[in-house]
Amino acid sequence: MISNQSLGRPNTQYLKSNPITTVSQSLKVRPNFLSAWLRNPKQVGAVLPSSDGLTNTMAAQIKRGPGLTIELGAGTGAVTAALLSRGIKPDHLILVEKDRILAKELDHHFPALRVLEGDAARLQQLLRKSGLGLADNVVSSLPLLSMRTLTRIRVLSQVFAILQPDGKLVQFTYSPRPPVPERLAHSLGIAGKRIERVLWNLPPANVWVYERTHENMAVIRPKIDARHRGATGRPLA
Ligand SMILES: C[S@@+](CC[C@H](N)C(=O)[O-])C[C@H]1O[C@@H](n2cnc3c(N)ncnc32)[C@H](O)[C@@H]1O
Repeated sequence: MISNQSLGRPNTQYLKSNPITTVSQSLKVRPNFLSAWLRNPKQVGAVLPSSDGLTNTMAAQIKRGPGLTIELGAGTGAVTAALLSRGIKPDHLILVEKDRILAKELDHHFPALRVLEGDAARLQQLLRKSGLGLADNVVSSLPLLSMRTLTRIRVLSQVFAILQPDGKLVQFTYSPRPPVPERLAHSLGIAGKRIERVLWNLPPANVWVYERTHENMAVIRPKIDARHRGATGRPLA
């Protein structure tokens, strides 16, 4: 049995969120987040962790099923706690975090979860090393728009290489623009939809969901089915 403490703080404030609780919760929460930002502002991409309003909106988009959910850029675990509250089983949730200190903290706060310290641009390799297979969901807090174009392309290609054909990428952005520029989405064979604008976050954020386009699914499905039959949890080829 896993206690609430070992899973992180319970995340039941969604409906009660307002600007004052959002700000005070964020400020009191995580000095580690601020120090991570001081170490590498571009990589962290935010001074405060995401609010409950934002994390719950992201968690509400995931497809619930037997497959894996991969969280990219787990930071101090704000989205992680929402995913667990949403009912994702700890052995189906994998956290990826590049910052070594934050990755150690995540390990400490969420002992029941697997934390992979590493770069999302090498996601396939990270999962393969841990013997993990295709995922149903990728939930990302990565600052995609501040990445170099090549890195962004690498990350997104890796994400869609490890997602099941009907898997989803849930991504937030502070920008009014899509987190994946339209031309890039088109060339990757994916399409996105803005699901919600979350005002009770500093700064306000937009939640997007990306999936493969139907044409792209038709092309890749036979390839993936052949290589990864019943793939969830099995090693990638
Ligand atoms: C905006 S913070 C989000 C933290 C947390 N998920 C939240 O919502 O409060 C982005 C996180 O992504 C991590 N990150 C940035 N680039 C990364 C990469 N290439 N691979 C893995 N993690 C990365 C940063 O270290 C940081 O913890």
